Amino acid sequence: MRQKEEERKDGGVVVVKPKPSKGIASKAVDYLEWVFVKLMRGPKKPLHYLSGNFAPVDETPPLQDLPVKGHLPECLNGEFVRVGPNPKFAPVAGYHWFDGDGMIHGMRIKDGKATYVSRYVRTSRIKQEEYYDGAKFMKIGDLRGMFGLVMVNMQMLREKLKVLDMSYGHGTANTALVYHHGKLLALHEGDKPYAIKVLEDGDLQTIGMLDYDKRLTHTFTAHPKVDPFTGEMFTFGYSQTPPYLTYRVISKDGLMHDPVPITISGPVMMHDFAITENYAIFMDLPLYFRPKEMVKEKKLIYSFDGTKKARFGILPRYAKNELLITWFELPNCFIFHNGEQQNLICAFELLPTLHVLDDIISYTFSRRLLILSPSRPPHHPTKNKIK
Ligand SMILES: [Fe+2]
Repeated sequence: MRQKEEERKDGGVVVVKPKPSKGIASKAVDYLEWVFVKLMRGPKKPLHYLSGNFAPVDETPPLQDLPVKGHLPECLNGEFVRVGPNPKFAPVAGYHWFDGDGMIHGMRIKDGKATYVSRYVRTSRIKQEEYYDGAKFMKIGDLRGMFGLVMVNMQMLREKLKVLDMSYGHGTANTALVYHHGKLLALHEGDKPYAIKVLEDGDLQTIGMLDYDKRLTHTFTAHPKVDPFTGEMFTFGYSQTPPYLTYRVISKDGLMHDPVPITISGPVMMHDFAITENYAIFMDLPLYFRPKEMVKEKKLIYSFDGTKKARFGILPRYAKNELLITWFELPNCFIFHNGEQQNLICAFELLPTLHVLDDIISYTFSRRLLILSPSRPPHHPTKNKIK
């Protein structure tokens, strides 16, 4: 935890100033890591995720007055932005697409002219790797088998010896963008949001990390939901330690309400969720965080358990605690995104009158109908009546 009061600006955004320290300790860990990589991974193999069309690109300062084929209407004024992984430094061993530093690409359109820009999100992670001029943080691409355990320990050693400063998290801000309460946020589900300022010339400037006046103390999904009618934002964080899941509501004025911890079967990967007019819907699916299996069975650190049931948990969206959650069992499956969220919304809003949930996860159970029944009696049967 940070000892001193953080520097804040632009509506409470924390200025990210990590303090890594070079010295004998950092050189010793680098050497140890080099030895383990040499012994356990052998000669460097080509990383397909980083070659050809997938190769990383450099930042592009605002490139103005791009050639336009046709005509851009004068009334069109704004910036289209997207974010994705784009590692600044070559990995020491493995790499996974989830590992790359977040780079935002922007297309500014104004007065009939177009400007392109691309900028890294200035995370604590990239600032520290720039300080060392090389990759220093653990990568998902390394987390397999005994080598995964070694790399976890390298990260812990660097933290313990203060070679790396983890007080601002270790996320890459590489997954998604959301705009809420006048702020553009770059998101990564293992960290807090980074606030980005869009400058008049289209350039993209990282302001810092948003912790909602210290109310956010856990991770923040990359797929929060903004209700276009109320202006509220709904989000959650998942963790490898209890509470494994925490639900949050943020008012249209940017005030984060109290946490709602939710009990689930264990530490799972939960990438997405859904919101309806009245409910929040969580996906408790059997992709478990299992470091022991990673080492013993040479699996990835998250492993899918084909023997376990999957569940949807439905919670009134302004619930203050989990007492009113109702769980519905599904066949064994994993769902990354709610690709058919609109159907999901309709289905759950109609639950009191419909008995069938229509085709909500079509890419998993193509064209099937799922008949759901609660896995335990609902607390308020009159509100959640399903026969
Ligand atoms: Fe996603």
